[in-house]
Amino acid sequence: MTLAVLASGRGSNLAALLDAFPGDVRLVISDKPDAAALDRAREAGITAAHVPFPKGGRATFEAQVQALLDTHGVTLVLLAGFMRLLSADFTGRWRGRILNIHPSLLPAFPGLHAQQQALDAGAAWSGCTVHFVDAGMDTGDIILQKRVPVLRSDTADTLAARILTAEHEAYPQAVRLVRAGLAFPRPTPDDLRAEFGDQAPPH
Ligand code: GAR
Repeated sequence: MTLAVLASGRGSNLAALLDAFPGDVRLVISDKPDAAALDRAREAGITAAHVPFPKGGRATFEAQVQALLDTHGVTLVLLAGFMRLLSADFTGRWRGRILNIHPSLLPAFPGLHAQQQALDAGAAWSGCTVHFVDAGMDTGDIILQKRVPVLRSDTADTLAARILTAEHEAYPQAVRLVRAGLAFPRPTPDDLRAEFGDQAPPH
């Protein structure tokens, strides 16, 4: 499989993916021109593209991203610290072939500041989730989770660091499951009809 990574920031998950799949990541895209992830990609000799995400311009962004994915023959898209929502049109086209990682045990604590949300809720455990991406915020079907303890002494930063170590293991593991054909998104009514015909169970 040919991989592309979309990242908005530091790119430590990108680095873990580059280590785990040398030669397979062919393209890194960021909506932020100064994202460290773009520098990491250039250092690794990988095409690094800044695609701006203008206000109200998601369709333009997605068209540019799709063109780059096509040009590079990408078959699996990995969001790694990519802080934008993608449309139902885009995520539908990539259904089952677009993944994200989030720093909580979803469905708990979606969205921004997931580590602070866990602390505020008094959670004893948190962790990370790798999931298929749909048009919602951190709502897609879950592939794999890793838990870490929340310590009484934790700040959002110390908890984030512990979760990040788990992320760097979880993301490559989830990608291996998808590449091996061992993880799938929940079937749609159309999938069920194709599988069972008239005998399709209710969705
Ligand atoms: C990671 O903790 C990732 O889970 C999180 O951003 C960080 C990116 O770090 N993503 C989200 O919160 C998405 N909802 P990185 O740039 O070092 O990989």
